Amino acid sequence: MTQSALPAREFASNVRALLKTESIGRSVRAYDTVSSTNTLAAEWAADDAPHGALVLAEFQTEGRGRLGRAWQAHAGLNLTFSVLLRPQLPPDRLGMITIAASLAVADAVDARATPLRTSIKWPNDVLLNGKKCCGMLLETARAPEGVAVVVGIGLNVNQDAFPDELSERATSILLETGQMTDRAHLLAEICRRLEHRMVQAGENPRMLRRLYMARMPDLGEPVRLRFSDRDGGIYGVPLGLDEFGGLIVETDSGRRVFHAGEVTRSPL
Ligand code: BTN
Repeated sequence: MTQSALPAREFASNVRALLKTESIGRSVRAYDTVSSTNTLAAEWAADDAPHGALVLAEFQTEGRGRLGRAWQAHAGLNLTFSVLLRPQLPPDRLGMITIAASLAVADAVDARATPLRTSIKWPNDVLLNGKKCCGMLLETARAPEGVAVVVGIGLNVNQDAFPDELSERATSILLETGQMTDRAHLLAEICRRLEHRMVQAGENPRMLRRLYMARMPDLGEPVRLRFSDRDGGIYGVPLGLDEFGGLIVETDSGRRVFHAGEVTRSPL
């Protein structure tokens, strides 16, 4: 779509004024147009960005989705951002970041969309009325010390239409509630909840898993799990999350745990 000069810096200072966090969102880089906020966050990580550094953009020209897909969102209407985390978690617990981030967004959207309640499609799609309003792409980044994780989040907020090929599956908070949402409040709220959930990911991962599983519509239902748009995937029944945030699936060849993929409802 065509681009106008959007006041990303002004938006960022509105967010800053609303922040109630210690680290997440305290350092911000804001752009009207970027290739991908994940790319910029990874570059900033190599340059010693602090834990919680936030890169936000009003428009991405090369937004990336999971499984090698593109992510497209209308300019100026949505939330398109990446948070850089230097988590105090053992490496085998990094999967819990997905759980923490999904819950942070789901809870923040719920607070705007009452009485609607979001669900979460493993690993990190947030759904409203069964349609996707938010996707996340988590990537590791090289940092001067230790591991850094880029949590890239695309949340459809005030977009009022989607291309025909997406409209069956994609939605926005506006389309489901009929109400415009103040994006700065929503982003500040996501930062606050993410900070809180990251502490819990270290201290009480069991509780986080329980909260996440309570939002999973596909537990106990036959699904197809795919790992790319080209493979046929495997069929099974998801039973829950293991202690590392992996999906436990009962398959024809026994119980297996997956750490990546995409779940779709499917008759067995
Ligand atoms: C998916 O559902 O496939 C994941 C979509 C992730 C999109 C966000 S938008 C901000 C960040 N920058 C990117 O290039 N991708 C993520």
